[in-house]
Amino acid sequence: SRVGVVTDWSALIRDIPDYPKPGILFKDITPLLADHAAFTQVVDELADGLVFDKVVGIEARGFILAAPVAYRSGAGFVPVRKAGKLPAATLEASYDLEYGSATIEVHADAFAPGERVLIVDDVLATGGTAEATVELVRRAGAEVTAVSFLMELSFLSGRDRLPGLEVRALLSV
Ligand code: PRP
Repeated sequence: SRVGVVTDWSALIRDIPDYPKPGILFKDITPLLADHAAFTQVVDELADGLVFDKVVGIEARGFILAAPVAYRSGAGFVPVRKAGKLPAATLEASYDLEYGSATIEVHADAFAPGERVLIVDDVLATGGTAEATVELVRRAGAEVTAVSFLMELSFLSGRDRLPGLEVRALLSV
């Protein structure tokens, strides 16, 4: 639960049981996105007080949050995508899933040397996706200044995979 905010947007994230698989409780943010006051407030909170040149959004729901953060902050937007979706030369990083692995990519020339980067995604779960994204940004020659999430599933301890970084989660469940 959240205290002291103008809009209590946490009630606009709904639980969907058994999606996408039996036993998974899916956090659906679409009601929040559909509410202008809530959406703009979370976009502001993801970036407030942070200093950065570029915003990285992680496919797919991270795009929805990261692009307005970039717009509001006067920063550029960079997509980190699932393998095979980016057209130019890429760097790639793989990470383990419960079954198998996943690969994500960024364009190799996405950043100028030393640019300061804010990474944005909707949910921090195991942290594998975010950890791989940090690795990609660094290998591409930029510096990660913070990683901001709408929501953290704290029982999965994902932030342990982001040591030494400023990790912001607007809501912890
Ligand atoms: C979800 C979520 C994060 C990631 C978090 O993305 O949006 O990117 O999983 O999980 P982790 O911390 O355990 O790595 P998903 O793979 O469902 O992709 P989508 O947004 O394209 O549906």
